[in-house]
Amino acid sequence: MSIAMSESLMTEVKDRPAYSPGLEGVIAGESALCLVDEGEAGLLYRGYAIRDLAERSTFEEVAYLLLFGHLPTQQELIEFSTQWIDHAVLPRLLEVFLGSVPPGSHPMDLVRTGVSLLGMVDPDAADNSHDTTIRKSVRLLAQIPLLIAISYRLVNGKPPVRPQADLSFAENLLYLLTDRKGDDQSKAMARVLDVSLTLYAEHEFNASTFAARVTASTMTDLYSAVTSAIGTLKGPLHGGANEAVAEMFLDIGSRERAEAWVRGALAKKRRIMGFGHRVLKKGDARSAIIQQHAESLSGICGDRRWYEIATIVEHVMEQEKGLRPNLDFYTAVSYLLMEIPRALYTPLFVCSRITGWCAHVIEQRDHNRLMRPRALYTGPPRREYVPLDRRT
Ligand SMILES: CC(C)(COP(=O)(O)OP(=O)(O)OC[C@H]1O[C@@H](n2cnc3c(N)ncnc32)[C@H](O)[C@@H]1OP(=O)(O)O)[C@@H](O)C(=O)NCCC(=O)NCCS
Repeated sequence: MSIAMSESLMTEVKDRPAYSPGLEGVIAGESALCLVDEGEAGLLYRGYAIRDLAERSTFEEVAYLLLFGHLPTQQELIEFSTQWIDHAVLPRLLEVFLGSVPPGSHPMDLVRTGVSLLGMVDPDAADNSHDTTIRKSVRLLAQIPLLIAISYRLVNGKPPVRPQADLSFAENLLYLLTDRKGDDQSKAMARVLDVSLTLYAEHEFNASTFAARVTASTMTDLYSAVTSAIGTLKGPLHGGANEAVAEMFLDIGSRERAEAWVRGALAKKRRIMGFGHRVLKKGDARSAIIQQHAESLSGICGDRRWYEIATIVEHVMEQEKGLRPNLDFYTAVSYLLMEIPRALYTPLFVCSRITGWCAHVIEQRDHNRLMRPRALYTGPPRREYVPLDRRT
């Protein structure tokens, strides 16, 4: 780039809204899927308040709402659930892959690569039409839990199990990952898991969704966009936080150690996982919902240890940093009570957010404009080229 060009770019940039590191506060596109608002509106999925959806709908209804644009009728819901069960099979190539992954692989790497492979064996992979993309999205919703469960069960020497038509999505997930089903405690756990799936399903232009939309904006296939999103979600500042919160609770171990542990970590300038949010500075409406469920599940399970540790950590963080918990914080309490293996917490997030990602990919395609922002150049001005034999 010549200096003249660089100066013209600088002028162009000067005339635009200020550069914002991390795109903080930047409106990067339009979406009818989700309103993230700290005010009275709160969090809405396609216009519905998150508390209504979490308390009065199932995750299947929310998935349908995000993908199809309206809450399903009873008949639509029956058909959607049947489709989900019918699609819950993996192509042979995926079974071969799952049987050969290196021991100790992170389940998020496995889901990312698994989704990429699903794209290779789908004859419709390149069909980007609206209706086909919805069909592929429903298939991914069915196949991702299987990818996670089969690989986990293989590595841990557990016999394979199949999703069951008489169980809900959340009940099936719990069954596939923990063998729990049927009794009152398992039903209570599945209900809380269902709520957490609803809360995780969609959150506007978060990093992974934005990655999916950038990828989709090149008019590539759905699987490529979802693969980008999974890789982005894995990071501890995003989806990896729920797993990190549980590690923290386990490290703290008891309510007596909680306060000193947090104060010690803050004194070392460590970030406490499960607190803070780029957009929600006054608190996360989803956190209050999952907190109530985590508390009641602690009572049902007769184990209040994790919940008590969490409330102490929350109190110290409020006092010392003025930071409120985000969704990941009390979700970790709930998942610990369900005895879901920790490495599967972020993959569980994928099982839910796949609905939001796919809905965004469809929306991006329906009104596409290639995403191609500019950078503020901070390198050296033009330099004289020195041939190799004259360089010192
Ligand atoms: C999510 C997150 C990346 C948002 O960060 P952000 O908007 O970029 O905020 P910043 O990183 O600019 O932090 C602002 C201040 O709050 C502090 N802070 C933010 N989150 C913190 C946390 N979880 N623990 C301790 N301090 C935190 C920062 O140290 C910084 O303090 P300083 O101004 O004294 O340096 C951040 O809050 C975080 O790292 N949280 C932990 C990971 C997590 O839970 N992620 C899930 C998000 S849903």
